[in-house]
Parts: sequence; C-alpha cells; structure tokens
Amino acid sequence: MSHKQHNIKGCRQYFPVTPNQSEPISNISNRNFPSGSSGNTPVTFRGFSREQVKRYCNYDPVRDYRRCLRENRDAVPSAWTRAQSEQIRITSTNVTNVINAPFPRISPDLNIWDMWPLMTKDGSVAELPGGWRVLFALSAPRSVLPGKRHDIARIAYFYSRNGYDWIQGGLLFEEGTAFGSRQWAGSAMLDDDGRIYFFYTATGRRGEAQITYEQRIALASFDYVSNLDGVRFVNFAPHQIILEPDGVLYQTQEQSSGGIIYAFRDPFFFKDPATGCEYLLFEGNVAGTASDINCGPGVPEEARYYTGNIGIALLRNDDYSEWELLPALLEATCNNQQTERPHIVVRNGNYYLFTDSHKFTFAPGLVPGPGPDGLYGFVASRLRGNYVPLNDGGLVLANPPQEEYQAYSWLVLPDFSVLSFIDNFNLQGISIDEVGNLPAEFQFAHFGGTLAPTVQLELVTTTTTEIVAEFQYGLVMLAQSESPKCDVKCPKDDDDHDHGHDDCDDKKHHKNHKHHKHHKDDKGRNKHYNDSEDYNESSSEDYGKGDRNLNRRKNKRNCRHCNK
Ligand code: FRU
Repeated sequence: MSHKQHNIKGCRQYFPVTPNQSEPISNISNRNFPSGSSGNTPVTFRGFSREQVKRYCNYDPVRDYRRCLRENRDAVPSAWTRAQSEQIRITSTNVTNVINAPFPRISPDLNIWDMWPLMTKDGSVAELPGGWRVLFALSAPRSVLPGKRHDIARIAYFYSRNGYDWIQGGLLFEEGTAFGSRQWAGSAMLDDDGRIYFFYTATGRRGEAQITYEQRIALASFDYVSNLDGVRFVNFAPHQIILEPDGVLYQTQEQSSGGIIYAFRDPFFFKDPATGCEYLLFEGNVAGTASDINCGPGVPEEARYYTGNIGIALLRNDDYSEWELLPALLEATCNNQQTERPHIVVRNGNYYLFTDSHKFTFAPGLVPGPGPDGLYGFVASRLRGNYVPLNDGGLVLANPPQEEYQAYSWLVLPDFSVLSFIDNFNLQGISIDEVGNLPAEFQFAHFGGTLAPTVQLELVTTTTTEIVAEFQYGLVMLAQSESPKCDVKCPKDDDDHDHGHDDCDDKKHHKNHKHHKHHKDDKGRNKHYNDSEDYNESSSEDYGKGDRNLNRRKNKRNCRHCNK
C-alpha cells in the first residue's frame, strides 16, 4: 500500500505567546490569533526547530507508528480524583450570564445541540473557498420533545462567512448511509489533500426495532463543493466502523452496569504539535465491571459505578480507518461516570484537555456536593500528562446557579473561545428532574436547541482560567492553533536551510484556503486560482468540486519535483 507522500521540508517556526494575564481583558472583538500580542502586550515566542516542523509535517502513520506508540504504550492515565472534585467552586471567574429569550435561532425547523466546526488538520478553524466556515451539529426536528432528541439524532451542517449568521445546509448524510440508529457527536477534519474525514458516534444499530445504547466510532469521508453560492458535500465513501471498546482498556456495554449509560463516543481528531502523531480522543469508561472497583473507606458503595475516562487511539494507516487503542489519558474512577466530548487545545506548549460533564454524573458522597453541569479542564506539559485540574477542581465554565441547566456541551477552540448550545433555560427554580413530567408546551418553551453566546476564556496562570468576555450567539472565529504550519516557504537565511530542490514548498497551499490563491476581481470580490493547475484561473463554480479534489490528491502523491 502506498503511504502518504509528504514532501514538505519545513523550517524553524515561531509563534507569539502572550504572558499570563494578570488583568482581565475586556472589549475583545476578534482574537483570531490567540496568543498574539494586542496593543502594548509584549510578545514572546514559542519556537519549533526545523526538525520538529519536519517531523510534524512529514508524519507518516505507517512509518511512524512505532515511534508514536512508544510515546504511549506504557503511559499511566492521569487521575481526576474525588478529592480534586471536592475543590470545585462556582465563582465569578467561571460563571456565565443568564440567557434570556428571545435569542436568535440557527434553524427554523431543527433543534440543534453538540456542535463542532470543520477544522484543518492542525486544529485551526477551516475557511473554505467562498469564505465559508462550516459548523456541524446534532439535530432533531423541533416538533420532537426535547428529551427524546438523543433517540433520533442526525447530523446537520451550517455555513457562515462572518461566523454568526449561519445558513442551514441540511442533513449531512443521506438517510440509511450512516451507521447507528442515530448519530451522536464527533469531529470533522479537512485534510491537506482537500478531503474531509468525519468521525462520529454510531449509537445503536441501523434499523433496530428498539433503540439500544451500543456506541461505536465511525468514519465517513467526502469532498466539498464550496463557492460563492454556498457549501455542499459530495463523493461520500462508504462509512466504516473504526473503533469499538475492547473490554481491556475500555469498557464494553456488557461490562457496564449502574444507572447511567456507559460511553464509547464523541471522537475528536488531534495531531500532536510536538510529535506529529495523529490521534482520536473519545469519551469512554474504565474497562471491567463494578465488582473490580473499591473506592476506599468512607466512600458510598455505589461510587464504584462511576468510571468515566478520556480515551485515546493512535492512527495506523493512511485512510484514517485503522486505529490502535491506547491507555486512557485521564480516569475519573469513583468520581464521575461521564467525561463527554473530550478535546485538547495546545497553548504556550501546554496541553489543555477539556471535557463536559453533568451534575448527575458525579459519584455520590462528594462534599460539599457534586460539581455543576460544566466545562472541566486539565493541563499537562506533555500529551501523556500528568494532567492536573485547572482551577483546583477542574471547573472552567458553569451556568449561573439560578439557571444551572441553561447551556451545555461546551467546546473550546484554539483561541480559547468556547461554543455551547442553549439547553433547559429559564426554569426559574423548577427542578430538572421535574421538567420531564411537565406539559409538553412547557418543555418546548424552555428548551433552546440553538447556539448559546460564545464565551472567551483566558489563562490567568498556567493552571487557572477566567471568563473575560461574552460574544454573539454562536460566534465561531477563525481560531488558529499554534501547531507548526506545513505550507510556509522557508526564509533564505534559515540557519539549517536545505539547499536542495524546494519547488514543492513554493507550491504549498495556504492553510484554510487549500489549493487556491485568492485575488480580488475588478469588483473587489475574491477570484480563485487552483494551485494544482499552475494557477490557471478557474470559475468559482468549479471550485473544490469533488473530482478536482481527487486530482489534487493524486498530484500530491506524485509531486514531480520532490519525490526522490
Ligand atoms: C453531550 C452528549 C454527547 C453525545 C450526545 C448525544 O451533550 O451526551 O456525549 O454524543 O450528547 O446526544
């Protein structure tokens, strides 16, 4: 089998790093380069050596498999302990504002929840030709009772030029093509070759008479057509199941017991900037049965049913279809059953590992009580940890105590802006356990099913965060990761500059505008040129069409100048 041919030579790169903020920032309008300097803030730089850039950009999942495995094989999962959870406090630095109706809706006919933007391989928010950002989300018709939505979830997509006026593209998959009786959360990666690799949770089995809660991780891949008129997806490959729990590192459905469903879901693609190794993170549970667990003296017996972990798997092939399960990154044994939608943002070289969790999934007996529905975070200096909770207990963002269920499913982007959706809002003290028994009209009227205001976090120190701003509903900014960039031309004075033939570097595609150069036409609008066709002008209609993407992939693999 032919491996990916990467021909990037790479040069040393530096990224601006903002020192820890001691003063809260207000008035942030757009922080497109997260660690960049603003105003008089002095700038320091994080550097990647030429070797690091090469290793990152030339990564080959087959050739580099052993190297990447070595980083992980004997790794010990970090622990999120009960003692740490007992440090959780809701304070002015981690609580959001009350959300009041009316608010803008992303869709007239769908409720949406768990959302994720299309990202380039380095974890930056992608911008497609025509200037579009794309957002995927779980969805259900608005006519369906909000509490029933998980049983029929389908993935929908939206696109926007300004990151807050979203146009509904429709459902992503043709009915009957995806695995599962319904699809749950995932992530979407735009590869360097222009194809999109889409990881999602297949829950239950397609066509099952009674819904089940089996969860498997599935892959779909497709091309995009993106032009001034909008975005659509074409050339779907048959879906594949790529990961299932093994019962040794990750709990199977058969091993699980207790009142809260087990997890093997919510895949998140992550390329480690330090090593280039490519991974999927996911939500799992510690393998085995509750009888294997002893939570220690003074802890309620039932705490043994709470075994949430943050799983990780290593890529093994070119097609993103073979993955090796690795020891978990983090375990919350005896502490919490669900560590949902895990994801990593690297900032100043540190790994910020985030997850969402519910109040009801914390184990019993915690003092002063369970943590709230919230965004929880951990930090380590290496991918494999050891991870320590941010803000002592891990709580990074919570709803206001008077409306503790108003938003959920927070997702942190590389600029530390945070997306979420409006959940059960304006309950005015009615208990969440009661909501399901109230008339349907009440349930519909108090479920948002659309994007919440985007929130801006900042680091105060390496291990503490605070909320510094709230933006529009559902704003997705063009957040850039601090990973090495594989498409830059090396400066001539780069110390260890390779004097070899560098033609392919000259033709590297600009990140977020893969394969295309943008120029203004005489009306000041963007005109697009296709790199792989020697900069011949192509009509905006043609742009990104699937067959062209296939050609690009071939071109990339057969790059004439550099494959020696
Ligand atoms: C979080 C979540 C995800 C899951 C989805 C199901 O809101 O529980 O873990 O994929 O919702 O609807």
